[in-house]
Amino acid sequence: MMEQTQNFVEPDRDCDLCPRLRAFLLEKRKELPSYHNAPVPSFGDPDPSLLIVGLAPGMHGANQTGRPFTGDWAGDLLYAALAEHGFSDGIYGGTADDGLSLKGVQITNAVRCVPPQNKPIGAECTACRPFLTQQIEALGRLKAILCLGKISHDNTVRAMGLRLKDYPFGHHKIHELQGGRRLYSSYHCSRYNTNTKRLTEEMFYDVFADIRRFIGS
Ligand code: URA
Repeated sequence: MMEQTQNFVEPDRDCDLCPRLRAFLLEKRKELPSYHNAPVPSFGDPDPSLLIVGLAPGMHGANQTGRPFTGDWAGDLLYAALAEHGFSDGIYGGTADDGLSLKGVQITNAVRCVPPQNKPIGAECTACRPFLTQQIEALGRLKAILCLGKISHDNTVRAMGLRLKDYPFGHHKIHELQGGRRLYSSYHCSRYNTNTKRLTEEMFYDVFADIRRFIGS
């Protein structure tokens, strides 16, 4: 049931590991037939130095366009930050066919299917985690992982077989990993966090500037 993309496995269109998400997607395929309505595959450089891990596809963003963070508020901020720090080529246009390419960066989500109310439950995080584990293991040139939000951070720490108490979440927190790699975390670039100023563009860009200094050009 799994299909091979790049050098790691992603959930296929009819993945049924999460009954609630599967039922939700089947409903959305009827209601919104022009939408992607399936697990959203990772996007970007197949052999990146930076892996960005979001939470889960947004209903009218990634779940519509089929590309992580594409077509919603969070994506406007994320793709602008990537462009500003030299991680992309082309102009982000909010659709999967905008011609944008990522340089040294791959973007994925802790949970690959859109969840009701944007909130995956614990069992869904657990069921989807092995995809992230083998993805991180397969990316041999990886130097840094950036997690957007606490759920992404906690999932990524667990996906690497590490203990949350040794790797606590914090905005702009940096943890050293084995092999000289680093784990960076940021508040999620959601509309809520930016509207409430929990996360400003400056705070977000500072994280990217640090990552750029760490991995070089
Ligand atoms: N879109 C995604 O793909 N992931 C998020 O976490 C938010 C929006």
